[in-house]
Amino acid sequence: VSEHTAVPARAQVLVASNRGPITYVPRDDGGLDARRGGGGLVSGLSAIGSEAQALWVCSALGEGDREAVRRGVGEPGVLMLDIDPDIHFDAYNGIANSVLWFIHHLLYQTPLEPVFDAEFRRQWAAYESYNRSFAEALADRAADGAAVLVQDYHLALAPGMLRELRPDLRIGHFSHTPWAPVDYFRLLPDDIAGQLLRGLLGADRACFLTRRWADAFADCCVRTLGEDALSGTRIGVHGLGADAEFLRERAHRPDVAERMAALREQIGPDRRAIVRVDRTELSKNIVRGLLAYRELLRSRPEWRERVVHVAFAYPSRQDLAVYREYTAAVGRVAEEINAEYGTADWTPVILHVKDDFARSLAAYRLADVALVNPIRDGMNLVAKEIPVVSDDGCVLVLSREAGAHEELGEDALTVNPYDVTGTADALHRALTMPYEERAGRTQRLAAAATALPPARWFLDQLTAVRAGV
Ligand code: F6P
Repeated sequence: VSEHTAVPARAQVLVASNRGPITYVPRDDGGLDARRGGGGLVSGLSAIGSEAQALWVCSALGEGDREAVRRGVGEPGVLMLDIDPDIHFDAYNGIANSVLWFIHHLLYQTPLEPVFDAEFRRQWAAYESYNRSFAEALADRAADGAAVLVQDYHLALAPGMLRELRPDLRIGHFSHTPWAPVDYFRLLPDDIAGQLLRGLLGADRACFLTRRWADAFADCCVRTLGEDALSGTRIGVHGLGADAEFLRERAHRPDVAERMAALREQIGPDRRAIVRVDRTELSKNIVRGLLAYRELLRSRPEWRERVVHVAFAYPSRQDLAVYREYTAAVGRVAEEINAEYGTADWTPVILHVKDDFARSLAAYRLADVALVNPIRDGMNLVAKEIPVVSDDGCVLVLSREAGAHEELGEDALTVNPYDVTGTADALHRALTMPYEERAGRTQRLAAAATALPPARWFLDQLTAVRAGV
């Protein structure tokens, strides 16, 4: 492992995550462009910037990042670890995104999956090594008694490893995913399941986005490790909210207005827009969302020519075949719907796959209906962001399996994510909801969605970890 030098020697507050706040993209002239890292985790953790003597430890992800580490280019307060690319590949793609992601989002499909064989064991060794690199870097850089907040399923073993190296530290772990129900969690080989739980229990405080995920974790600990398993670790629940101030300001800049005009043109006059914005990834359930829209057009022909499904599905984790195949399936079903129902001046599905934050905000503002139907989701910030920036009110069709449902369920239209007909019915109900009702619901959704802004979410965790409560 090699690392940057532009960081404090000893930090009082440390955050550790796979993806960092910044990423470097090589330019044609040999230079490096710094870009803000993506994902919900980064928005939540950005509040660390206001802490003195803070350090964010993350991985170098692509060639640009590795080059930055080699050249000693870096942001103050960010330590990028240049972990061997093969180790990173096996830990991130092989274990984190193929096994742990699938376990916590209930994505395995019997009879072909899962298979825990020698190849899995080889990747597991890489996952251990990856976690060890983080634990060692954190142990080196933490001041006496410092607080360390370790993030997510990529780093489930790091808290336990760090505890052994530095018993003086206050360690927190935060899971941004759901936690699997015990019977599903125990698909994992027993020794691996035990290692994962003990890894997290190395933290003073293991935190989750909702009570439901926290309870599932506690259940796994007690059923797998015994009644006393939780004696040294507190379990916390901190539901991350949307950043209203940032979103409202950003959504009213000229680049968003431009994209709104372009989208309106594409949608066509007097048509309703059903909007979804996701990373293209199996848990988001984009294909069933498209099938529900198709069923709406089939069973209620009055909507033909009068509605458009605006689906932004930004490819992610494309190193893995299963994610690539899912991305292709989304494109295929969208094309089928357009071929079956499209007319000379109506494209039923507008699918965009190139990530463009300004265009996402434009779609948020003009959406009549937001479709958020994940199979399972730790929280889902899109469900919280849309009501905050909506221009004219928007009906939220929301999966009961999204963490956000705990806070937004009352004013959303709830769906079972597997129930395509139920989702089609909810879309119809959303499209026909009276204006007054839609406006009232949007207002209440926005209030609930912003109740715990990212900066407070971060500080609450930090305070609790430091206080040992
Ligand atoms: O949901 C967990 C999470 O870590 C999010 O915080 C983040 O947006 C997403 O997964 C990112 O995944 P990846 O880093 O693989 O693109």
